[in-house]
Amino acid sequence: NQTRTKYGETLIDHYKNPRNVGSLDKGDKNVGSAIVGAPACGDVMKFQVQFDDNGRVVDAKFKTFGCGSAIASSSVATEWVKGKTAEECLSITNNDIAQHLALPPVKKHCSLLAESAIRESVSNYKAKQAPHMMKAEN
Ligand code: FES
Ligand code: FES
Repeated sequence: NQTRTKYGETLIDHYKNPRNVGSLDKGDKNVGSAIVGAPACGDVMKFQVQFDDNGRVVDAKFKTFGCGSAIASSSVATEWVKGKTAEECLSITNNDIAQHLALPPVKKHCSLLAESAIRESVSNYKAKQAPHMMKAEN
């Protein structure tokens, strides 16, 4: 079938057996949470990272309401952040993810969604570590 995009094995594996689906405790100050959306298609990704007291990721979970490429991208992202510091997490790019999964060009924004999810969850964690830097409520 020529009209079908050919997806690679890594992508299909992560889509069929996504790693780390679920939720972490949002109230934990070592957990950073983010919900990001892709304006292009309306897909939504919830992503959470949990750091230990030494500032390394010990756990990560996601829930993605979206296409297979978005699910696979978030699955890879949860695996890659583990063991990393906040700064190291931020060095993961959508290109790394897209390459790893061999995403076709039309699916590049799906990996971008995962990159944004990592960034925003890490910055949520950082904000929780420095509460005095946060805007006072009301
Ligand atoms: Fe959103 Fe992929 S277009 S499901
Ligand atoms: Fe929109 Fe994948 S996130 S098609």
